[in-house]
Formats: sequence, structure tokens, C-alpha cells
Amino acid sequence: MRILITGGAGFVPSSLADVLLTNSAIDVVLVDNFLTGRKENIPLHPRCRFIKCDVNNYNEIAPVFSAFGFDYVFHYAAVVGVKRTLDNPVMVLNDIQGIKNVLDLSKSTGVKRIFFSSSSEVYGEPVHLPQHEHTTPLNSRLPYAVVKNVGESFCRSYQQEFNLDFTLFRFFNTYGPKQSPDFVVARFIDAALAGKEITVYGDGQQTRTFCYIDDNAEACINALTQNLFVNDVVNVGNDKAITVLELAQTIIRLTNSSSKIVHLPPLPEGDMTRRQPDIQNMKQLLKRDFTSLEDGLQRIITLRTK
Ligand SMILES: NC(=O)c1ccc[n+]([C@@H]2O[C@H](COP(=O)([O-])OP(=O)(O)OC[C@H]3O[C@@H](n4cnc5c(N)ncnc54)[C@H](O)[C@@H]3O)[C@@H](O)[C@H]2O)c1
Repeated sequence: MRILITGGAGFVPSSLADVLLTNSAIDVVLVDNFLTGRKENIPLHPRCRFIKCDVNNYNEIAPVFSAFGFDYVFHYAAVVGVKRTLDNPVMVLNDIQGIKNVLDLSKSTGVKRIFFSSSSEVYGEPVHLPQHEHTTPLNSRLPYAVVKNVGESFCRSYQQEFNLDFTLFRFFNTYGPKQSPDFVVARFIDAALAGKEITVYGDGQQTRTFCYIDDNAEACINALTQNLFVNDVVNVGNDKAITVLELAQTIIRLTNSSSKIVHLPPLPEGDMTRRQPDIQNMKQLLKRDFTSLEDGLQRIITLRTK
């Protein structure tokens, strides 16, 4: 089985590759333009190939599809990060071209199913909690969320017109060892281990749920191997909510740190007050208990202090 993962030098995509490569029947090809990806994330493995390429550029990505003939594609490449996406809205919107390229090339080269990394951001400011795939309205407003919404719509439309099967993963906050330091968990852990101030936007009472990367990767792989959520959408996340302030306090406790928590002015936009997935569908994918936040944080701290 040959699988393409776009954004393969990134946190979630490279962690997915690590797990896929434990199956000897799977060959993995990763593409990335290193916008936020890092070389050290790319698995060094005989069944893993890496190609530097921009998926938004048809001339770069088309030869990759024709050279390999993929069975499945995980389209995970995207401009990410609250600040980066707010500061570069046009660059974010250009990702629509990458989605089209990947769908067109998947359709014309016989890909069996495409897995698209959508986001909890498509729900926008929550109307009700927990957020359910089919009953919660999508209030996407910011370019990042609009692109994810458009991507979902493209997947549904290619299925309708061209029979290209899809699964939409709406990822909620995911964390793990390979995450880049600009995201909240990695940022707090790095600051705590260095004994530096931990900075929180606003009063820190905004709640978040955090899904450990192993749970995300296992759920997504089960969708493929167990033929689940074909032509459907599924929240991939953990529903246990914690405030950002409590997260900072937990990390200080687990690292035994002397760091102080410092409050910054709230972000002007993009910092949702609450998000929480309805996980009834996610439970069908994971079929085991979630990794607890403390266990997940501890695994990262152990790796960082080795
Ligand atoms: N991590 C989360 O909590 C989370 C939550 C919701 C959605 N997502 C989605 O999951 C996916 C992976 O996110 P991540 O957190 O691992 O971020 P990441 O930045 O670590 O990974 C994204 C990767 O895509 C690459 N990339 C960006 N534009 C590209 C392009 N045009 N061509 C080729 N490569 C390109 C980047 O260099 C990076 O390596 C993204 O689609 C993101 O929107 C992640």
C-alpha cells in the first residue's frame, strides 16, 4: 500500500507517518515546502521517501503523483498557527489551490480515498457545546477556517461528481513531542523547563481540550484500515476541557518549575473562548481510553529532559 502525506515535515503529518511505517505493508511518501515543517521530524526509514515540494504549485506536485501512483492520500499541508494565519490571510487562502491540486491529481491517478485535515475552527465561535459534526452550525469567518470549510466542500463535491472517496477529520487541539514551539503546550513546557515566564493571553479562562498525538494518529489510521467514516466527517479530539491558566499551572507542577505566569492582553481575534468536540464518533475510531493530559504532558517532558 502506497500512501502520500502532504505537510510531511510537520508535527501531525510526520507523527502519522511514524505510526504508518510500523506496518511493513505500507510505503510512505512525504512532501513538504518547509514553511513550518522541520527536517528532524521526517522519519529516517527505508520505506519512507521525502520530496521537497509546494502542494499549491501544480507543476511541483503533479510529478509526485504520476511517479508513485498512491492508494491513499492524507492531505495535511496547510498554513497553520493563530498568529501566522491572522497575519497572512492571502497566503492562507492560497491553500485552496493546493486542495484542488491534490483532489484533481487523486482523481486522475486512481487514489482510493483522500483524508483531509479540517479543523475545529470550522465551527467558529461555538453556538453550543459539545460541537457535533452534523448538528453544530459552521460559523467559519477567518480565512483559515474558511479554507478548511471550502476544503470539506471540495472533497464532498469531488465525491459527488467523480466518485473520489474522502474522510474529513476535524482536528481539535492536538499536542505531542514533535509540535513546534509556537503552540501553547510546547511553548509552556519549554518556558517551564527553562524557568522563564509563562505568558497567557487575557485572563487564561478560555478553555481548551487537548488530544495527545498518539490518539489522533491511531484514530486516523483506524479510519483507513477499518473502512470507517467513508464519505463522512469526524471530530478527532479529546473532550476533556481545561482552562489555559490550569494548563500552565499543571505544566509548572509536572516540571517542578519556578516559572511565573504572566498575563498578556487578549488576542484581538482568533482566540475562541471555548471549544469542545462531541466525541461519540471519535470513540468509534479509537476504541480505547484517551491518553490523559497529565500522561501526555509527562511523556513530552520526559523526552525533553532526557
Ligand atoms: N495540531 C493541531 O492541533 C491541529 C488542529 C486543527 C487542524 N490541524 C491541521 O492539521 C494539519 C497539520 O498541522 P500541524 O499542527 O501538524 O502543523 P505543522 O505546521 O507542524 O504541519 C503542517 C506542514 O505543512 C507544511 N506546508 C504548509 N504549506 C505547504 C505547502 N503549500 N506545500 C507543502 N507543504 C506545506 C508545513 O511546512 C508543515 O510542515 C494542518 O492541516 C492543520 O490545519 C492541526
